Amino acid sequence: MSKKRKLRSTDWFNDPSQPDQTAIYIERYLNYGLTREELQSGKPIIGIAQTGSDLAPCNRHHMELAQRVRDGIRAAGGVPFEFPVHAIHEMGKRPTAALDRNLAYLGLVEILYGYPLDGVVLTTGCDKTTPATIMAAATVDIPAIVLSGGPMLNGWDVEKRVGSGSIIWSSREQYARGDIDYEGFMDNVTASAPSPGHCNTMGTALTMNSLAEGLGMSLPGCAAIPAPYKERAQIAYYTGLRIVDMVWEDLKPSDVMTREAFLNAIRLCSAIGGSTNAPPHLQAIANRVGVEISIEDWQEYGEEIPLLVNCQPAGEYLGEDFYRAGGVPSVMGELLRAGLVAGDCRTVNGKTIGENYGEQVSRNEKVIRPFAQPMMENAGFAVMRGNLFDSAIMKKSVIGEDFRKHYLSDPEHPNVLRGRAIVFDGPEDYHHRIDDPSLDVDERCVLIIRNCGPLGYPGSAEVVNMRPPDYLIKRGINCLPCIGDGRQSGTSASPSILNASPEAAAGGGLALLQTNDPVEIDLNNNRVNVLLEDAELERRRAELQQPPLVNQTPWQEIYRKTVTQLQDGGDMAMDEEHLRLVERHGTP
Ligand code: FES
Ligand code: MG
Repeated sequence: MSKKRKLRSTDWFNDPSQPDQTAIYIERYLNYGLTREELQSGKPIIGIAQTGSDLAPCNRHHMELAQRVRDGIRAAGGVPFEFPVHAIHEMGKRPTAALDRNLAYLGLVEILYGYPLDGVVLTTGCDKTTPATIMAAATVDIPAIVLSGGPMLNGWDVEKRVGSGSIIWSSREQYARGDIDYEGFMDNVTASAPSPGHCNTMGTALTMNSLAEGLGMSLPGCAAIPAPYKERAQIAYYTGLRIVDMVWEDLKPSDVMTREAFLNAIRLCSAIGGSTNAPPHLQAIANRVGVEISIEDWQEYGEEIPLLVNCQPAGEYLGEDFYRAGGVPSVMGELLRAGLVAGDCRTVNGKTIGENYGEQVSRNEKVIRPFAQPMMENAGFAVMRGNLFDSAIMKKSVIGEDFRKHYLSDPEHPNVLRGRAIVFDGPEDYHHRIDDPSLDVDERCVLIIRNCGPLGYPGSAEVVNMRPPDYLIKRGINCLPCIGDGRQSGTSASPSILNASPEAAAGGGLALLQTNDPVEIDLNNNRVNVLLEDAELERRRAELQQPPLVNQTPWQEIYRKTVTQLQDGGDMAMDEEHLRLVERHGTP
């Protein structure tokens, strides 16, 4: 490849026509021992966008992996510059980490745009770190490669696998039944986190890293290598090597992330049983790269894809097993042979999807099924519509027997559920009232949670997967249909209807709902409706009093002024479209 291309960084570091500017730019980088030779002899300057820190434990081992990235960059003739990305930790950030995705995105855009970087390694892992960093690389469109951090090792309870997040939901049921006490609950949950790494279930982290690989943004096989494995540090080195050549080739995010690549990622998401957080994240990335995708594409291209990966929460195994069975390469191999993904998309290693994955097969068919023997057919997200929202999604791969057992309507129409709405105004209200006997929740109820979308919460809370009251769990009813304008954890096996857009706080139909209203969920036609006359809904809208939106920080205020609905990615809109939304539904 040609190493003659003029690099972006020379505008800062070596412009003889502006000696004073160049001197100012360069002098301070020498103060810790870099030399002029390194910065002025045309070596690519490579950023390492560091998402790990003590506050971001899922990505913390990137602080060590970065050394291997540096080694690779140096060996290929580049100069590494490591810098911090705004910390995002899914479990630790209040009110919700989703609020911070766009903030981390903005911060990284400023760094990539404003500093002398020719290319960047994106260290990813915990849920929002992956979309935030890819969005930024897409906006600036300089050569960029994803280095996933990898899942934690399998968690174990003697011989039983204990998966991140998923264990919380099942242990909470045991706790409600009195099978375990507080100490037992803590022991169960902490057993799921045995090593460095991100969540070991097929939650949002493993999903988004798998989709980053499926998009072509990481080296093949990168997504699922467990964090502590030697192969993780080795791929950190290869990633560092590769980004330098990507700079010389000028291989940019816009060359890799085409519409076909996004459709590949949507199909991959169904096949792995991926998180319901993937649609807004993928949408936001596509928006940044200028590719048109929409929630319709999930229905059209994703819903009919079979589930091939047997990982929690849809299945049994965890990230370590997924890696050992072949990871993303094996799944892509299966989808390629079935003609379901486009093989000619370019990837960051310079080869196509077909070249990278065409020969890959499962190494353990209990964990990654061959295409002909899937875990389940039609495993993608259904896009639901009706008079409560324009769109919401439902993960069909987790609809289990438990759920079907408690059908709420007549046996003649087993896919049409009718129930009595129990409405909560956000997670605090839910936690406060769910076990109150006067609510009178039974197996004919649908739990509704609102005011937890991007505007309402703000950021959109992962709360739609609500457990039934303890008194129902004691009777063996572990699951009720849930509907909400928030999200749910990717680690949850709840078949909720979530990401409802527009959310209640933006004037969506959920705002009009009252407890005891009759709600119908039609799984055949993907419809959700409250069974009330339009006139009644209009009457309620005229009298609607929305709860006030209180901003606790300056960013919350800016976020609320700019955020779009989840079906549009929870992205930033600073154009007329957002103003129209405000006009229609009132200033938040
Ligand atoms: Fe960070 Fe799950 S909490 S990956
Ligand atoms: Mg999450």
